[in-house]
Amino acid sequence: MGLAQALLVLLVSAAHAWMPDASARIELKYGDDASEQFVGNTTAPDHFRILDKDDFSIIVGGRNTVYNLSLYDLSENMEQRLEWQSTDAHRELCQLKGKSADECQNYPRVAARTHERLLVCGTNAFKPLCRWYPRHAQSHHQEEFDGSGRCPYDPQHNSTAIFADGKLYTATAADFSGTDPLIYREPVRTERSDLRLLNDPSFVGAISSTSHVYFFYRETAVEYMNCGKAVYSRVARVCLNDIGGPHTFSDRWTSFLKTRLNCSMPGDYPFYFDEIQATTELINGIYGNGGSRNDIVYAVFTTPQNAIGGSAVCAFAMRDILDAFEGPFKGQENMNSNWLPLEKDKVPEPRPGSCEEDSRTLSDSAVNFIKTHSLMDKAVPSFLARPILIRVSLQYRFSAIAVHPQVQAMNGNKYDVMYVGTDDGRVIKAVNVAANEGDFYASADEDSKSPVRTAVISEVQVLPQGVPIKQMHVALTTEKLIVASGDIIRAVTLSYCSNVLSCRECVALQDPHCAWDSKQQQCSWVGNRQFPNPERFLQNVEYGKTDICNKLPALSTGHSNKNPGTKKPKLSHSDDIQNEILIEVVETNVLSDDKPTNNNKHGTDSLTVEAADGNIYTSQALLTAVVASCLVTLMVGFVIGYLFSRRFRHPFFADTSPFNEQHNHLNRLSPLETPLNANSGYMPPRSKNVNMVANVCPLAKQDNLHLDLGKDRPLDLRNSTESLDKDLKCGTLQKVKKTYI
Ligand SMILES: *[C@@H]1O[C@H](CO)[C@@H](O)[C@H](O)[C@H]1NC(C)=O
Ligand SMILES: *[C@@H]1O[C@H](CO)[C@@H](O)[C@H](O)[C@H]1NC(C)=O
Ligand SMILES: *[C@@H]1O[C@H](CO)[C@@H](O)[C@H](O)[C@H]1NC(C)=O
Repeated sequence: MGLAQALLVLLVSAAHAWMPDASARIELKYGDDASEQFVGNTTAPDHFRILDKDDFSIIVGGRNTVYNLSLYDLSENMEQRLEWQSTDAHRELCQLKGKSADECQNYPRVAARTHERLLVCGTNAFKPLCRWYPRHAQSHHQEEFDGSGRCPYDPQHNSTAIFADGKLYTATAADFSGTDPLIYREPVRTERSDLRLLNDPSFVGAISSTSHVYFFYRETAVEYMNCGKAVYSRVARVCLNDIGGPHTFSDRWTSFLKTRLNCSMPGDYPFYFDEIQATTELINGIYGNGGSRNDIVYAVFTTPQNAIGGSAVCAFAMRDILDAFEGPFKGQENMNSNWLPLEKDKVPEPRPGSCEEDSRTLSDSAVNFIKTHSLMDKAVPSFLARPILIRVSLQYRFSAIAVHPQVQAMNGNKYDVMYVGTDDGRVIKAVNVAANEGDFYASADEDSKSPVRTAVISEVQVLPQGVPIKQMHVALTTEKLIVASGDIIRAVTLSYCSNVLSCRECVALQDPHCAWDSKQQQCSWVGNRQFPNPERFLQNVEYGKTDICNKLPALSTGHSNKNPGTKKPKLSHSDDIQNEILIEVVETNVLSDDKPTNNNKHGTDSLTVEAADGNIYTSQALLTAVVASCLVTLMVGFVIGYLFSRRFRHPFFADTSPFNEQHNHLNRLSPLETPLNANSGYMPPRSKNVNMVANVCPLAKQDNLHLDLGKDRPLDLRNSTESLDKDLKCGTLQKVKKTYI
């Protein structure tokens, strides 16, 4: 019971904190939008990876091939195609070692351009190899060299590479079995099999600055090893001018430092999203009213694979990363002691990791220090102190992210528009609409105090269901979102402005890309455009509301104006949203249970959340259900207590069915439901299609639902709606009771 209560408390508080991000204004199913795609080799796995990009094209590594694709329509620039097969000898050896024929191909994983040449490194049938190609002629490669340490052996390995200061920096594994992870730039690397440096890492991204290269990855946490196994997210860095240490350290970094990334929901017990999955490039923007410029990097995080599926987007300011690296080091006295912050006087001079001019002149003791103290004590806090987007789902986790940086809204404010890819092929578009309000703490309104108020604009099934999105890229010049999985690359539009038909809906999107064009009477793309007469366009990214819409002449074709209750022009007030979510779910239930032929809400409003696909809906609902069930457990407990006390006062009740009683009492708890109590003796048949989400009904004040459903229906239908509602409630209450008591 204690455990259950703890879980309940956790879920309830989590539910409260997490709900605001839960539904999108526009939802599209797979194939609902027109988009270009590139599939490469259709008969065998391609393991696509976007290796490089310029303003108009991307370079993609596929099976035995490097493709150059146009960012307009993903058409291939055939002259630039490079074909590169492994030799038969390599392929045979690879298969002898137990790899499959598909794995024993050459998959280019790294590419870097210099002025005249293109460097490509491929897995080459588990024997990595690099080649220099001339850039502008489709000719033979020039030279070849060993790619071990630069390119993974396994095409699926989570490696990353970045070309900085004319040199290739890689984070990958340097052996056949993938057990020798390293961060490498010729000729220096991280120490071999030193778990304090890299412990079973998955690298996800890298960025460079004027003096450092930063790597983002997750790994088994060495500082937690005395307490069990945990995976933490990290940022590590090395100096650009590090050329290795003295003597025996000549091929080892002297500047490798790392620290934890803290992406968590704050609270007495912060809830951590510990596993980083992807990062963006560095984004320079103005955040807050003070107009302070910040370099920030966005990243997606998830809970561990075996935990309840939680995902989050966090941002990190370069400034905070630097601070963490300037802070105290973490140290461990001996193998069994805890990792603790190191006192200042134990840190040698010059401070390790500070990019000395000639790293070979460092003392042995300085190099030894950094070898044993590469971990910093302070974690990097997330920018704005909390995740910017959170999703809880059994269906999917976040797997990729791209940002359209600093999109200017009609009022001049700038927003980073986030596109988050999931491992089931969908793309969620979201904007932190609070990021520009600056004076976060001035307002008395509770919600606007938070520096994070995220509007989820759209959720689109871009790839077939179940296909994980591996990489995403916002092509600024062509205004396309490039979405890459292992075997498909698609280019989709950045916005779905024209999918909404009314002024109010358009403004409610809170999409900096879209505004209502009062002249053309349509929702138009305005992102980053300058207009001579901006007052013609209506937009309100901050709150999604404007009074002017109402003053415009109503559109004769616009159905949406007639149904003011159906759209969701919502603020992210958590309570509202919580209700809305529940209402949606229950509506769906009603829909699937009695399939009304002409349901106003769904039949005419193209934007109402689609839950036609039973699969998606069911498992998403399941999670809500867990939370809901807990709530109901609490309620039922209360009711039973109440019942008992009543039972002793009213012997009469002993004759009635306990379920009925319970139902009555529950109804009594929500004042607007009194009409239903009129036939309180009625015990509806149990619904076959019991859905636990419906449990929430009595608690969630879903009065709107009753009113809504009743209002537009003919009288004869209305009765059935009522009984159906009751049905849902009673049926599920019984179920809950059975399960939990
Ligand atoms: C792709 O080919 C075009 C045309 O030859 C070239 O200009 C462009 O730089 C190539 N793309 C990349 C990313 O190298
Ligand atoms: C690479 O990352 C993916 C996605 O997080 C994960 O499923 C996979 O197990 C990782 N691969 C390795 C070899 O760790
Ligand atoms: C992470 O951040 C939260 C709040 O933002 C804080 O409560 C927690 O102590 C931090 N954790 C670490 C390990 O720094």
